[in-house]
Amino acid sequence: MDVYRQCLLLLIVSVCTFTCAVDVKPCCGPTKWTANIVQTIGEYNRDLDAASVGYGNTTIYYDYDNKQMAFKQILLNRTDHDRITHKWIIFKYNLGKRFVIMNQTCTSSTIREEMEKPCIPDDAAFLGSHAYPGNLKVNVWLIENKNIGGARRLSVTEKMCMRTTMARITGGPDYILDTGIYQNVTSGISDPSVFVVPSFCGSSYQALKFVSMRQRL
Ligand SMILES: *[C@@H]1O[C@H](CO)[C@@H](O)[C@H](O)[C@H]1NC(C)=O
Ligand SMILES: *[C@@H]1O[C@H](CO)[C@@H](O)[C@H](O)[C@H]1NC(C)=O
Ligand SMILES: *[C@@H]1O[C@H](CO)[C@@H](O)[C@H](O)[C@H]1NC(C)=O
Ligand SMILES: *[C@@H]1O[C@H](CO)[C@@H](O)[C@H](O)[C@H]1NC(C)=O
Repeated sequence: MDVYRQCLLLLIVSVCTFTCAVDVKPCCGPTKWTANIVQTIGEYNRDLDAASVGYGNTTIYYDYDNKQMAFKQILLNRTDHDRITHKWIIFKYNLGKRFVIMNQTCTSSTIREEMEKPCIPDDAAFLGSHAYPGNLKVNVWLIENKNIGGARRLSVTEKMCMRTTMARITGGPDYILDTGIYQNVTSGISDPSVFVVPSFCGSSYQALKFVSMRQRL
Protein backbone atom coordinates (compact mmCIF):
# COMPACT_ATOMS: atom_id res chain seq x y z
CA MET A 1 0.00 0.00 0.00
CA ASP A 2 1.38 3.38 -0.88
CA VAL A 3 1.49 6.30 1.48
CA TYR A 4 -1.47 7.97 -0.17
CA ARG A 5 -3.72 4.96 0.35
CA GLN A 6 -2.54 4.60 3.92
CA CYS A 7 -3.44 8.19 4.62
CA LEU A 8 -6.84 7.77 3.02
CA LEU A 9 -7.54 4.67 5.10
CA LEU A 10 -6.45 6.45 8.24
CA LEU A 11 -8.76 9.33 7.39
CA ILE A 12 -11.72 7.02 6.82
CA VAL A 13 -11.04 5.17 10.07
CA SER A 14 -10.73 8.37 12.07
CA VAL A 15 -13.88 9.89 10.53
CA CYS A 16 -15.70 6.68 11.35
CA THR A 17 -14.52 6.45 14.94
CA PHE A 18 -15.66 10.06 15.38
CA THR A 19 -19.09 9.75 13.75
CA CYS A 20 -19.74 6.15 14.69
CA ALA A 21 -19.10 6.87 18.36
CA VAL A 22 -21.88 9.44 18.23
CA ASP A 23 -25.10 7.60 18.77
CA VAL A 24 -27.44 10.36 19.84
CA LYS A 25 -30.85 10.11 18.22
CA PRO A 26 -33.32 12.98 17.82
CA CYS A 27 -35.68 12.86 20.80
CA CYS A 28 -39.28 13.82 21.51
CA GLY A 29 -40.38 15.85 24.52
CA PRO A 30 -43.77 16.19 26.22
CA THR A 31 -46.69 17.11 23.95
CA LYS A 32 -47.70 19.85 26.40
CA TRP A 33 -45.26 22.19 28.05
CA THR A 34 -44.93 25.68 29.47
CA ALA A 35 -41.72 27.69 29.64
CA ASN A 36 -40.50 31.24 29.95
CA ILE A 37 -37.77 32.40 27.64
CA VAL A 38 -35.56 35.47 28.04
CA GLN A 39 -34.30 36.66 24.71
CA THR A 40 -31.80 39.02 23.15
CA ILE A 41 -32.86 39.90 19.65
CA GLY A 42 -30.87 41.66 16.95
CA GLU A 43 -32.32 42.56 13.61
CA TYR A 44 -30.79 43.78 10.39
CA ASN A 45 -32.89 44.51 7.37
CA ARG A 46 -30.66 44.55 4.33
CA ASP A 47 -33.28 46.15 2.07
CA LEU A 48 -33.91 49.02 4.47
CA ASP A 49 -30.33 49.03 5.79
CA ALA A 50 -31.80 49.29 9.28
CA ALA A 51 -30.53 47.58 12.40
CA SER A 52 -32.10 47.27 15.84
CA VAL A 53 -31.72 45.42 19.08
CA GLY A 54 -34.27 44.34 21.65
CA TYR A 55 -34.90 42.20 24.72
CA GLY A 56 -37.75 39.76 25.04
CA ASN A 57 -39.49 37.90 27.79
CA THR A 58 -41.88 35.31 26.40
CA THR A 59 -43.91 32.66 28.15
CA ILE A 60 -44.61 29.86 25.73
CA TYR A 61 -47.58 27.52 26.09
CA TYR A 62 -47.22 24.57 23.73
CA ASP A 63 -50.09 22.11 23.31
CA TYR A 64 -49.50 19.64 20.50
CA ASP A 65 -52.45 17.45 21.53
CA ASN A 66 -54.87 20.25 20.63
CA LYS A 67 -52.67 21.78 17.92
CA GLN A 68 -52.39 25.15 19.59
CA MET A 69 -49.71 27.39 21.00
CA ALA A 70 -49.73 30.75 22.78
CA PHE A 71 -47.11 33.37 23.60
CA LYS A 72 -47.33 36.01 26.28
CA GLN A 73 -44.59 38.36 25.26
CA ILE A 74 -42.97 41.51 26.60
CA LEU A 75 -40.57 43.16 24.17
CA LEU A 76 -38.24 46.02 24.92
CA ASN A 77 -36.96 47.69 21.78
CA ARG A 78 -33.67 49.40 22.62
CA THR A 79 -33.40 51.09 19.25
CA ASP A 80 -36.93 52.46 19.30
CA HIS A 81 -36.66 54.66 22.44
CA ASP A 82 -36.91 51.63 24.77
CA ARG A 83 -40.44 51.08 23.58
CA ILE A 84 -42.16 48.25 25.48
CA THR A 85 -44.83 46.17 23.79
CA HIS A 86 -46.99 43.49 25.33
CA LYS A 87 -48.22 40.87 22.91
CA TRP A 88 -50.43 37.88 23.35
CA ILE A 89 -50.26 35.58 20.35
CA ILE A 90 -52.50 32.54 19.89
CA PHE A 91 -51.77 29.98 17.19
CA LYS A 92 -54.71 27.75 16.26
CA TYR A 93 -53.25 25.31 13.78
CA ASN A 94 -56.54 23.44 13.22
CA LEU A 95 -58.06 26.70 12.00
CA GLY A 96 -54.91 27.82 10.23
CA LYS A 97 -55.08 31.13 12.13
CA ARG A 98 -52.86 33.26 14.27
CA PHE A 99 -54.32 35.96 16.56
CA VAL A 100 -52.18 38.81 17.82
CA ILE A 101 -53.67 40.74 20.72
CA MET A 102 -52.12 44.09 21.59
CA ASN A 103 -53.66 47.00 23.44
CA GLN A 104 -57.07 45.30 23.42
CA THR A 105 -57.03 45.04 19.66
CA CYS A 106 -56.89 41.79 17.82
CA THR A 107 -55.50 41.04 14.39
CA SER A 108 -55.69 37.64 12.77
CA SER A 109 -53.60 36.18 10.00
CA THR A 110 -53.23 32.88 8.19
CA ILE A 111 -50.72 30.27 9.33
CA ARG A 112 -49.34 28.31 6.41
CA GLU A 113 -46.92 26.00 8.18
CA GLU A 114 -47.87 22.96 10.24
CA MET A 115 -47.40 22.96 13.98
CA GLU A 116 -43.90 21.92 14.93
CA LYS A 117 -43.81 18.44 16.44
CA PRO A 118 -42.51 18.16 20.02
CA CYS A 119 -39.45 16.45 18.59
CA ILE A 120 -36.04 17.24 17.20
CA PRO A 121 -36.53 16.63 13.44
CA ASP A 122 -34.91 13.52 11.98
CA ASP A 123 -32.73 15.58 9.66
CA ALA A 124 -31.31 17.79 12.46
CA ALA A 125 -27.54 17.75 12.82
CA PHE A 126 -26.15 16.71 16.17
CA LEU A 127 -23.59 19.26 17.38
CA GLY A 128 -22.54 17.70 20.66
CA SER A 129 -23.35 17.16 24.33
CA HIS A 130 -22.44 19.03 27.47
CA ALA A 131 -23.38 19.05 31.11
CA TYR A 132 -24.51 21.64 33.64
CA PRO A 133 -23.75 21.41 37.35
CA GLY A 134 -26.01 18.88 39.04
CA ASN A 135 -25.26 16.44 36.22
CA LEU A 136 -27.88 17.87 33.90
CA LYS A 137 -26.87 16.60 30.47
CA VAL A 138 -27.98 18.37 27.33
CA ASN A 139 -27.67 17.59 23.63
CA VAL A 140 -27.26 20.35 21.08
CA TRP A 141 -28.91 20.19 17.66
CA LEU A 142 -28.81 22.32 14.53
CA ILE A 143 -32.12 22.53 12.72
CA GLU A 144 -32.09 24.18 9.33
CA ASN A 145 -35.18 25.80 7.92
CA LYS A 146 -35.27 24.47 4.38
CA ASN A 147 -38.35 26.50 3.42
CA ILE A 148 -37.41 30.04 4.35
CA GLY A 149 -33.69 29.74 5.06
CA GLY A 150 -31.93 30.31 8.34
CA ALA A 151 -31.33 27.84 11.12
CA ARG A 152 -31.84 27.19 14.81
CA ARG A 153 -29.52 25.74 17.39
CA LEU A 154 -31.51 24.09 20.14
CA SER A 155 -30.26 22.35 23.26
CA VAL A 156 -32.49 19.87 25.00
CA THR A 157 -32.05 17.84 28.15
CA GLU A 158 -30.92 14.28 27.56
CA LYS A 159 -33.54 12.84 29.91
CA MET A 160 -36.86 14.45 29.00
CA CYS A 161 -35.91 16.24 25.79
CA MET A 162 -36.91 19.59 27.25
CA ARG A 163 -35.44 22.82 25.95
CA THR A 164 -32.68 24.73 27.71
CA THR A 165 -31.27 27.22 25.19
CA MET A 166 -32.00 28.43 21.69
CA ALA A 167 -30.24 30.53 19.06
CA ARG A 168 -31.94 31.28 15.80
CA ILE A 169 -31.06 33.22 12.68
CA THR A 170 -33.64 33.84 9.99
CA GLY A 171 -33.04 33.94 6.26
CA GLY A 172 -32.69 37.39 4.71
CA PRO A 173 -33.28 40.07 3.68
CA ASP A 174 -34.66 40.69 7.19
CA TYR A 175 -32.09 38.93 9.35
CA ILE A 176 -33.19 38.29 12.92
CA LEU A 177 -30.77 36.79 15.40
CA ASP A 178 -32.72 35.63 18.41
CA THR A 179 -31.02 33.94 21.33
CA GLY A 180 -32.77 32.74 24.43
CA ILE A 181 -32.59 30.84 27.66
CA TYR A 182 -35.53 28.70 28.70
CA GLN A 183 -36.55 29.06 32.32
CA ASN A 184 -38.96 27.06 34.47
CA VAL A 185 -39.65 24.51 31.76
CA THR A 186 -42.45 22.25 32.94
CA SER A 187 -44.65 19.70 31.24
CA GLY A 188 -48.35 20.58 31.10
CA ILE A 189 -50.08 23.92 30.57
CA SER A 190 -49.90 26.21 33.60
CA ASP A 191 -52.70 28.53 32.40
CA PRO A 192 -55.18 27.06 29.86
CA SER A 193 -56.99 30.41 29.53
CA VAL A 194 -54.19 31.62 27.22
CA PHE A 195 -55.79 29.56 24.43
CA VAL A 196 -59.19 31.20 24.70
CA VAL A 197 -59.48 33.65 21.82
CA PRO A 198 -61.04 36.87 23.21
CA SER A 199 -64.51 37.78 22.02
CA PHE A 200 -63.25 41.04 20.54
CA CYS A 201 -61.31 38.99 18.01
CA GLY A 202 -64.75 39.05 16.48
CA SER A 203 -67.17 37.24 14.33
CA SER A 204 -64.48 36.06 11.93
CA TYR A 205 -63.20 33.70 14.62
CA GLN A 206 -66.68 32.36 15.45
CA ALA A 207 -67.37 31.76 11.76
CA LEU A 208 -64.08 29.91 11.38
CA LYS A 209 -64.83 27.71 14.35
CA PHE A 210 -68.20 26.84 12.82
CA VAL A 211 -66.71 26.01 9.42
CA SER A 212 -64.03 23.81 10.95
CA MET A 213 -66.65 21.99 13.05
CA ARG A 214 -68.74 21.38 9.93
CA GLN A 215 -65.69 20.07 8.10
CA ARG A 216 -65.02 17.57 10.83
CA LEU A 217 -68.58 16.20 10.80
C1 LIG B 1 -37.54 47.90 16.94
O1 LIG B 1 -38.43 48.88 16.44
C2 LIG B 1 -38.26 49.17 15.06
C3 LIG B 1 -39.15 50.35 14.72
O2 LIG B 1 -40.47 50.12 15.10
C4 LIG B 1 -38.61 47.93 14.26
O3 LIG B 1 -38.46 48.16 12.88
C5 LIG B 1 -37.69 46.79 14.67
O4 LIG B 1 -38.06 45.61 14.00
C6 LIG B 1 -37.72 46.59 16.18
N1 LIG B 1 -36.66 45.67 16.54
C7 LIG B 1 -36.78 44.67 17.39
C8 LIG B 1 -35.58 43.83 17.64
O5 LIG B 1 -37.84 44.41 17.96
C1 LIG C 1 -40.61 37.90 32.53
O1 LIG C 1 -41.99 38.12 32.73
C2 LIG C 1 -42.55 37.40 33.82
C3 LIG C 1 -44.04 37.58 33.79
O2 LIG C 1 -44.41 38.92 33.67
C4 LIG C 1 -41.88 37.87 35.11
O3 LIG C 1 -42.39 37.11 36.18
C5 LIG C 1 -40.38 37.67 35.01
O4 LIG C 1 -39.74 38.20 36.15
C6 LIG C 1 -39.80 38.33 33.77
N1 LIG C 1 -38.41 37.94 33.64
C7 LIG C 1 -37.46 38.76 33.23
C8 LIG C 1 -36.09 38.20 33.16
O5 LIG C 1 -37.69 39.92 32.90
C1 LIG D 1 -50.71 50.88 23.16
O1 LIG D 1 -51.14 51.69 24.20
C2 LIG D 1 -50.12 52.49 24.78
C3 LIG D 1 -50.66 53.20 25.99
O2 LIG D 1 -51.99 53.52 25.84
C4 LIG D 1 -49.59 53.45 23.70
O3 LIG D 1 -48.55 54.24 24.23
C5 LIG D 1 -49.06 52.65 22.52
O4 LIG D 1 -48.66 53.50 21.47
C6 LIG D 1 -50.13 51.69 22.00
N1 LIG D 1 -49.52 50.82 21.00
C7 LIG D 1 -50.08 50.53 19.84
C8 LIG D 1 -49.32 49.62 18.95
O5 LIG D 1 -51.17 50.96 19.52
C1 LIG E 1 -39.63 30.49 37.90
O1 LIG E 1 -39.95 29.76 39.07
C2 LIG E 1 -39.54 30.40 40.25
C3 LIG E 1 -39.81 29.45 41.41
O2 LIG E 1 -41.11 28.95 41.36
C4 LIG E 1 -40.31 31.72 40.38
O3 LIG E 1 -39.90 32.37 41.55
C5 LIG E 1 -40.01 32.59 39.18
O4 LIG E 1 -40.77 33.77 39.22
C6 LIG E 1 -40.32 31.86 37.89
N1 LIG E 1 -39.89 32.67 36.77
C7 LIG E 1 -40.59 32.84 35.66
C8 LIG E 1 -39.99 33.73 34.64
O5 LIG E 1 -41.65 32.29 35.45
